Amino acid sequence: MDKPYQAMSGVEVLPAHFPIPGVGFLPINAFVIKAREPVLVDTGMGIDSGQFMKALESIIDPQDLKWVWLTHDDADHTGNIQKVLEAAPSARLAANSLAVLRMSTAWSVPMHRVYWLNSGDSIRVGDRKLTAVRPPLFDNPTTVGIYDDKSEVFFSADCFGAIIPSPAQNADDLTEKDLAQGIMSWASLDDPWVHMVEPTVFSKALDRIRQMAPKMIFSAHLPPAQRKTEQLLELLARVPTSTPFVAPNQMALEQILAQTGGGS
Ligand SMILES: [Fe+2]
Ligand SMILES: [Fe+2]
Repeated sequence: MDKPYQAMSGVEVLPAHFPIPGVGFLPINAFVIKAREPVLVDTGMGIDSGQFMKALESIIDPQDLKWVWLTHDDADHTGNIQKVLEAAPSARLAANSLAVLRMSTAWSVPMHRVYWLNSGDSIRVGDRKLTAVRPPLFDNPTTVGIYDDKSEVFFSADCFGAIIPSPAQNADDLTEKDLAQGIMSWASLDDPWVHMVEPTVFSKALDRIRQMAPKMIFSAHLPPAQRKTEQLLELLARVPTSTPFVAPNQMALEQILAQTGGGS
């Protein structure tokens, strides 16, 4: 875990950077929306557990949280969900209905605290409305992003992610080349189905974000990106016809282990 920071008025980032040997770092962000009814968006990685709770407590007393919104039920988003729900007894757990059912196979989800939010549904959190929006790219069928109508920003779940050369707090800190390479290769590796999609059909999904015109994009896997929506959409538009990502094989693992001395 890295030190939390404020990305804009009312939005705090709980950042981590997961090292990918030989490639760089995958940002793994959770967020606190300091709405009148405060919202935690995702709960980090289980491997960070103690640090995540400390980072959260440095931003807000968990007892004050009114909502914990899981964008989907992948492990890098649900890592500390049980700890958070224990520490935040007033919080409802907002998530796609299928995400809740899937999680129920691993732990006992307190259903009386659950709020099922599917794409298109909204909740009012005091001073703003949060709407569930399925992002154009997703690696899990339960994925919902969040549009915040007060801040006019979009929390995009895994969409717009990138593996980056070194940790960063702002997408502006990346070179254009690193941003483009990172965004396109992440999209291909995280969403291999995109290569089976007609570019014209995919561009309609991109247009929905274009029409929303968020001032900032808060991806779980990219440093916060301000005034970059069009640039990011143009990069994603190129992915369906780009060369598909090929996962590293056993030979690559042996090379990594030899380099890092982890093979013995
Ligand atoms: Fe995911
Ligand atoms: Fe993720």
